[in-house]
Amino acid sequence: MTRKLFIRTYGCQMNVYDSERMAELLAPLGFAATGSPDEADIVILNTCHIREKAAEKVYSELGRLRSLKDARQAAGRDMIVAVAGCVAQAEGAEIMRRQPAVDMVFGPQSYHRLPEMVARIARAGTGTRAILETTFDVARKFDELPDAPGAHGPSAFLTIQEGCDRFCTFCVVPYTRGAEYSRAVAAVMDEARRRVAAGAREITLLGQNVNAYHGTAADAGAPSLGLGRLIRRLAEIDGLARIRYTTSHPHDMDEELITAHREVPQLMPFLHLPVQSGSDRVLEAMNRRHRVQDYLRTVERLRSARPDLALSSDFIVGFPGESDTDFEATLGLVRDVTFAQAYSFKYSPRPGTPAAAMERQLPDSVKEERLARLQDLIAAQQRAFNVNSVGRRLPVLLERRGRRRGQLAGRTPYMQAVHLEAPEALVGSIVDVEVTAAHALSITGTLASEAPRFAHASAARPQPPSPQSMSPQSTSPQPPSGNAVQEGEVRIIA
Ligand code: 5AD
Ligand code: SF4
Repeated sequence: MTRKLFIRTYGCQMNVYDSERMAELLAPLGFAATGSPDEADIVILNTCHIREKAAEKVYSELGRLRSLKDARQAAGRDMIVAVAGCVAQAEGAEIMRRQPAVDMVFGPQSYHRLPEMVARIARAGTGTRAILETTFDVARKFDELPDAPGAHGPSAFLTIQEGCDRFCTFCVVPYTRGAEYSRAVAAVMDEARRRVAAGAREITLLGQNVNAYHGTAADAGAPSLGLGRLIRRLAEIDGLARIRYTTSHPHDMDEELITAHREVPQLMPFLHLPVQSGSDRVLEAMNRRHRVQDYLRTVERLRSARPDLALSSDFIVGFPGESDTDFEATLGLVRDVTFAQAYSFKYSPRPGTPAAAMERQLPDSVKEERLARLQDLIAAQQRAFNVNSVGRRLPVLLERRGRRRGQLAGRTPYMQAVHLEAPEALVGSIVDVEVTAAHALSITGTLASEAPRFAHASAARPQPPSPQSMSPQSTSPQPPSGNAVQEGEVRIIA
């Protein structure tokens, strides 16, 4: 009998990847995905602990699930409620104490044991059945996970690295995801090939500190391979048209990786490179191990390797002790670099992190005001970047149906969301799109070519780079930058 599984995913892309793997683990036990918790036999909340707000959402969702579970059990049907992810890792038994409806709590490094945990609960029936599993054994997890079958659409995530050893003073990741771990090159290559064989045209390599990747490569004659060299190997996979990676630390942006941006046409001209603050004083208190100058120099090197590179970043405002001058320096950095998009957050003290115990915590009103100013500036840059694309022809990977009938949604090489009218058969293809309008968060356009550049059905082959084009998908050498940076010119204000 088919049973129903509902997973709600909070937080980052790695949680999205983990949720997909959980669904794959439970499929052989007869669990099929459902779009609503109402009819689910098992509900998993895959949680995020990065900011307080994200963690709070979990408890309110658990309250709703408790009523659902009571109603189902009153009707003679069972429901397993599970909490996974980083809140599970950080708060463990506390979750079960606060919400008795929860049957299972397991951290990000334990979910490969899900089938066994579900079986244990089934055996226990409605009796005592609480399971808490928060051990760290990331190597074992990847060894024990079944081969990913793929088939998740044209754009796939692939975790290559997990955990972090950097210990930024605001961040819970080193505590919830554990020490840095890189998967072996062969395992990554195998999974990538399977994803492509199942229809992926684009792979986004994931890691909390993805550019610290150093996977063992038995054949390389060297103890490990960095991300730049891994990307070169991935680019040899037939049919893999686009490669991206996230999230990077500025400190780990090495020459090999920067050169890959220059030389590997499949590596997309978009990079998410969190800087967090534009003030050296704050960066030091954050234990970021890079200064503003280091960041600007890295951006300069990247842009000279790939002049049309679009940049994204993360910012935290209202870090303990952040003065008006510090905050102004952050605005200054944003103006100097110019971003195609960026995320910004109010500092949120996380239990157990050094910054939570720092003096001079700032009032919410100050954080709120700074966040609004920063977000206005970022929004203006993002809009300008999009406006700059109007009139251009850009290659777009069509990923799925759009919200409106007859519409498809996809992305440009620069990560811009695109909506256009196109036949559904083109999902999975890369097509040329004439950009006709720009909006705050997306662009719209029309199909410029009848024939897709990379058809979905035929295994798409990236073409070799032509002298005119740095990417098989760059139809124009001009970046659609809203930052007044001309090709070849890098405007960094020291
Ligand atoms: N408060 C606010 N933002 C945070 N981030 C990480 N920890 C915190 C925190 N305690 C942000 C950082 C990071 C992104 C994923 O979340 O900007 O890059
Ligand atoms: Fe957290 Fe990223 Fe810093 Fe690691 S590098 S501690 S994941 S913010």
